[in-house]
Amino acid sequence: MEAKKLGLVLGISTIVAAFTMVLHLLEAPQVQHALLGEFNFIIPAMLKGASSSGKYQQGKAGVLLPNLTSCHESMGRSDLPVYCCPPMNQSDVAFIDFQFPDPSLPLRVRRPTHLLDENYIAKYKKAITIMKSLPDTDPRSYTRQANLHCLFCTGAYNQQHSNSPLNIHRSWLFFPWHRMLIYFHERILGGLIGDDTFALPFWPWDIPEGMVIPEMYMKAPFFHEARDISHFPPSVVDLDYSCTAPSSDDYGCFESGLGPEDQVYTNLVMMYNQMVAGAKKMELFMGCPYKAGEGGSCNGPGTLELAPHNTVHKWVGSNLNPGSREDMGVFYSAARDPIFYPHHANIDRLWEVWTKLHGNKVITDPDWLDSSFFFYDEKLLLNKIRIRDVLSITRLRYAYENVDFPWLNNRPRPSVPLEVARNVLKTRQNAKLQRNGRFLDSTLRTRVNRPKVRRTKKEKDEEEEILVVHGIDVPEERYVKFDVYVNVVNETLMNPRFREFAGTFVHIDPGVIRVAREANLETLRKKTDLKLGISELLEDLEADGDDSIWVTLVPRSKGCFNATVDGLRIEYIR
Ligand code: C2O
Repeated sequence: MEAKKLGLVLGISTIVAAFTMVLHLLEAPQVQHALLGEFNFIIPAMLKGASSSGKYQQGKAGVLLPNLTSCHESMGRSDLPVYCCPPMNQSDVAFIDFQFPDPSLPLRVRRPTHLLDENYIAKYKKAITIMKSLPDTDPRSYTRQANLHCLFCTGAYNQQHSNSPLNIHRSWLFFPWHRMLIYFHERILGGLIGDDTFALPFWPWDIPEGMVIPEMYMKAPFFHEARDISHFPPSVVDLDYSCTAPSSDDYGCFESGLGPEDQVYTNLVMMYNQMVAGAKKMELFMGCPYKAGEGGSCNGPGTLELAPHNTVHKWVGSNLNPGSREDMGVFYSAARDPIFYPHHANIDRLWEVWTKLHGNKVITDPDWLDSSFFFYDEKLLLNKIRIRDVLSITRLRYAYENVDFPWLNNRPRPSVPLEVARNVLKTRQNAKLQRNGRFLDSTLRTRVNRPKVRRTKKEKDEEEEILVVHGIDVPEERYVKFDVYVNVVNETLMNPRFREFAGTFVHIDPGVIRVAREANLETLRKKTDLKLGISELLEDLEADGDDSIWVTLVPRSKGCFNATVDGLRIEYIR
């Protein structure tokens, strides 16, 4: 028996050695390591000694890296086990440090979906068809690509030196990680058709021309079954889409009921709020600092991640999966739908747009800059890539075709004349939050004191006034959405088109609790704060001189019934 095993190992190792030599002659030396990794799956014990896992160690305490040996069930669903782990242990695969593409190569120009021509669509079709035909043992295959999102977005890997799952949503990892994902995805697609100028398209749902599901995504191979049929063209996307009206008993989602023109207008205002008025400081847009060793994610997403990112996911997903609206509606399955990629190209573009609008500001914290991930490239090499590597899209050799963004000028107006509002608000009784948290089972209205009034323009530029909804406790595995309004007279008429809208909280079903318990993982920190920038809103509502404001939380999902908030306060962010 033992002799047989030994013979088999020796046999395989001879084949591996011969294959390696051939490769050595044909390819760059790194290639053999990556392929050896694949063979390593077959004979794990034999090559373990040569494993490079020691090199994954990082000195700095706050820097995040996945522990590639830790792949376990994804936390995508509470009711069903979901496994997205690659067929072999990734820690046995030697990796290379990411290299920038040759700067003399032409830029890959990502174009908006409504401007694509037949030639381009044919190329993309060919690439995705090949990708879908690759076996799952190939990291370039469609399934493996989709599983990358499942792995990192629903905590299938732990952080290094910790049993706390790594999750790239709801924090400052959101933008850079997704940039990496689609960067490599794009290059793999191009590689499969031998075209190193191939660029993904972007779905510009933020501009009127892009506010329907793009036509090409309605046809094979870009069409996907698991979508809501009632949202097919010409249905206009609702960037503030909410699932389950609080009063209804089922899990259905809540259509805005707006006509197409009103919906377009509301979307533009929403964009203005998420990109401009509500996103004046880095943390508000990028999300909270998530560092290693702090026991789980900081759990505070930026404006754009909350909406339209989360809301468009839900809006596209299928109503036949009413709990979570798979595939797009929940993270473990989202990247199975081809529309995921142009959706994220648009998110990536809007990160770029925001950065330009805000004087090219970037986060300088080395814990963020050096946090790293691993991705296969088009040559089947496993790359270790740091966040600092993806901060210039020109260095990554891609660009976005310019489109106008009309939302930039869509500064919203108050719902009623300010004089009227002032008189109504004066007569209002205060409803205090209870100490131990207050359930969001109905509209919650309270008065919040402002520590500083009538600040100068300079003070406001330096320090943004932040409305913090603190200690939000989201119930197990539930989708929770609520909107926040300031100085509202009539809550029932409110939607994001009015200046009173300060922002929205959208928590896509985290689905982690059971998995975390079973796998004995360090439980994620559950409570979260929602931070909303309101300096501009207060000016527009002429409330800047008031020493308190009225804040209304409007539940927009059934999950709110069991969600609680500890309270509201004003803070200032530099
Ligand atoms: Cu990782 Cu659009 O989600």
